Amino acid sequence: MLKLAIRGGTPVRTTPFPSWPVWDDAERRGLSEVLESGNWGGFPFPNTKGAEFAARFAAVHGAKYGIAAANGTVAIELAVQAAGIGAGDEVIVPAYTWDSTAGAVLFSGGVPVFADVDPERYCLDPAQLDAALSQRTRAILPVHLGMNMADMDAIGAFAAKHSLAVIEDCAHAHGASWNGRGAGSLGDAGAFSFQSSKLMSAGEGGIVLTNSAALHERASVLINCGRSAVGGNFRAIGHNYRMTEFQAAVLLAQLDRLDAQTERREKNALHFESCLAGVEGIRVVARDPRQTRRAIYHFVLRYDAAHFGVPRDAFVAALAAEGVPAEGVFYEAVYRSPLFPAAPGTFRVLPCPVSERAAYEESVWIPHNVLEGRTRDVEDAAAAIRKIVDHISELRGFEHPSIAEKGMSRAERLTV
Ligand SMILES: Cc1ncc(COP(=O)(O)O)c(C=O)c1O
Repeated sequence: MLKLAIRGGTPVRTTPFPSWPVWDDAERRGLSEVLESGNWGGFPFPNTKGAEFAARFAAVHGAKYGIAAANGTVAIELAVQAAGIGAGDEVIVPAYTWDSTAGAVLFSGGVPVFADVDPERYCLDPAQLDAALSQRTRAILPVHLGMNMADMDAIGAFAAKHSLAVIEDCAHAHGASWNGRGAGSLGDAGAFSFQSSKLMSAGEGGIVLTNSAALHERASVLINCGRSAVGGNFRAIGHNYRMTEFQAAVLLAQLDRLDAQTERREKNALHFESCLAGVEGIRVVARDPRQTRRAIYHFVLRYDAAHFGVPRDAFVAALAAEGVPAEGVFYEAVYRSPLFPAAPGTFRVLPCPVSERAAYEESVWIPHNVLEGRTRDVEDAAAAIRKIVDHISELRGFEHPSIAEKGMSRAERLTV
């Protein structure tokens, strides 16, 4: 009799994992306060709750200034533009990330240069920076991905040597720290997202953090239709990228919970890792000891398809059938993404074999809600993984609609 749930066996897990986002009376109170005040928008900028949230979130991450924004994509755009990146300026970005990391550079008139990630941790590989550098390079935009932060020591040193700006994409890194310093405070600026799935959420939302008074002034003008809100002489044609007071009220409540949630996720992640120890062919992305605090947005595994003789997407489909949410192509190699039909000549690509392997063959992304509850939850997730590994032969040569439905085949992607 076949054992795997995808082949008709009994699933390991039939009860749902904790749902996300979470809220309680603190969000209710904040929202109703804003509603009753009639002061709803982000204007005048910075508005009351927006300013309070920006200051508190910046302080938590060890940054001097925070500029609360409408979402994470525009927060990156603001940071890029405030750093003076414009027409024709090249910005080195990791190839393995969400498309809007690079989109924000294009929206700013810049040229994203895709460089590979490191094979153990999936963050921008500092060893690729030399090859990516050109006369037109102006900035590096590392992404703290999944559960890891990029090597900010090596990236910072390279940037200093070549007079480049560093803008951190911290969309996955709420509360994380590197050598004791908060994400978003290590480069010239950092941009966070508060979109629905993120570790703090207001449905949508974003923030720019910086320690630079000049960047703070520029971002504050750019976000506010060009109006100067903090003094100074910088003038520009601006956007309306302001956060509403409703978003800020929710985020103030979410911020109060961040520490306890970060600790619970870390505890469960360590337990998850210990439950997976010794499972051949399955590894957790490596942890750099300089990362003093992890923000676990997704628990990311490396699946060895060659070892198992079964494609990663079949493993992911089998895991979902066992009742554990998981994704394979969570991100594309951005330059191959159907969401990134940028015209040739508007970006540059270095060879990115690690990003392509991660995206199409190796990575398994398990969302953080699996780690938000009891130890028992991660034990179930690990039991499902072990079960599939023990019965991997049931997946050899097996075709299932949930595997085929994953989208384009790799061959198709490579011709995009
Ligand atoms: C790595 C990364 N960068 C940027 C963003 C953009 O954030 P948002 O969806 O809030 O625009 C996201 C989230 O979607 C992300 O995961």
